[in-house]
Amino acid sequence: MGSFYCKNDIGQMLFYPLVSRAVKLDSDSMQGTQPYQSSVTIGNLFLESNLFLSPLAGYTTLPFRLLVREIGGVGLCTTDLVNARSLLEKNRKALKLVETRPQDTPLAVQIFGSKPEEMREAAKVIEAGGFAAVDINMGCPVPKVCKVGGGSAMMKDTAATAALVQGVVEAVSIPVTCKMRLGWDASNITAPDLAKALADVGVSAICVHGRTRDQGFAGGVNLEGIRAVVEAVPSLPVIGNGDVTTALAAATMLEQTGCAGVSIGRGAFYNPWIFLEIADWMARGVVRQAPSDEDRFGAMRRHLHLMAEVFGEQAGCLQFRKIAPWFVRMLGPTHEFNRRIHTLVSLTQFEEILEDYKKWRAQFLDADGKLMPRYRPAPAGGVFVGAGEAGSPAAIAVPKGAVDYW
Ligand SMILES: Cc1cc2nc3c(=O)[nH]c(=O)nc-3n(C[C@H](O)[C@H](O)[C@H](O)COP(=O)(O)O)c2cc1C
Repeated sequence: MGSFYCKNDIGQMLFYPLVSRAVKLDSDSMQGTQPYQSSVTIGNLFLESNLFLSPLAGYTTLPFRLLVREIGGVGLCTTDLVNARSLLEKNRKALKLVETRPQDTPLAVQIFGSKPEEMREAAKVIEAGGFAAVDINMGCPVPKVCKVGGGSAMMKDTAATAALVQGVVEAVSIPVTCKMRLGWDASNITAPDLAKALADVGVSAICVHGRTRDQGFAGGVNLEGIRAVVEAVPSLPVIGNGDVTTALAAATMLEQTGCAGVSIGRGAFYNPWIFLEIADWMARGVVRQAPSDEDRFGAMRRHLHLMAEVFGEQAGCLQFRKIAPWFVRMLGPTHEFNRRIHTLVSLTQFEEILEDYKKWRAQFLDADGKLMPRYRPAPAGGVFVGAGEAGSPAAIAVPKGAVDYW
């Protein structure tokens, strides 16, 4: 078994064990080589980058998608999950969820539902809207959704789910993809069989989060579970998902599962540069310079301004209260910032909060303006941060309430 070391974005040494191939982080020897496949084709859709933004309902809305696209490296983004029926009824909230801009491409719309005709008709609406793909949610654990046979309940009945998906595939010519977990619980790991059935009815890709529905976000991501899905559907690109917060975690997932690409949710909030970092590393074996503190502040400001453009200043600020703490998570002590940001009502006030935070944060910096080691947060790494890590890895945070819903 091979292994490799790398510094993470806050300068800590990471150790990565690899099962199938030893990759040594040596930019000279890797310069000019292409150790990883960095593009992927999904049905008739060619994607230059095999790095996907995972939908995080309420977070990966249009402003965040625009931000990560401006920074670069991301392939396909997906909307938050949209109720198929609400889309057909042109419900105001559903239409807001599928709001997009020319810069926000390629974009898949994720739908959920359990009524075949509603799912088919919603897919047609999505195709007519010029979107790149339809993604069907099979991972949502919200009881309200599961009770009617949607979300992760779809993983329990392979035949009915395959029949529903076949109807959607036949209704549109854009790619249809499915996003699932490994199964309902540890004794019902249905993802490999379900993926096979979905491949047979013509889906173009499967995205699999390496946990069961029962697990919520507890425990590590099961890379072997993802690998079993990859092996079950050799004809289909399988996109691995869960806990990827660094380029090396992405490399580990690609290496150990054989997946065709990686989808990242929470890691993109810790670090919106993550796609660029992974893309660079996969293409050239080079670890980019980590974004500076000022870069992070700038990205946060840009995100807020996009929120104000898309939702209006007041509504954008209200929503940004829960988003902003993610941006500062890797900047050391943040309680002063987090306390104030919960009162955010305007763009002007944001600048005041930011300036005050920078002044307050100065006490944790050294003479070169770098965060002193003892204030550095433990790297968020989940299962990917192994022995040799400086400090124990922090669990990757889940937005409040999300465990109940996802
Ligand atoms: C707050 C939150 C909202 C989510 N919303 C969605 C969603 O709308 N559709 C979906 O398929 N998955 C959703 N997920 C699951 C994520 O897409 C992803 O599978 C999961 O967070 C694991 O990836 P990560 O470790 O990179 O975040 C959500 C997760 C969270 C934490």
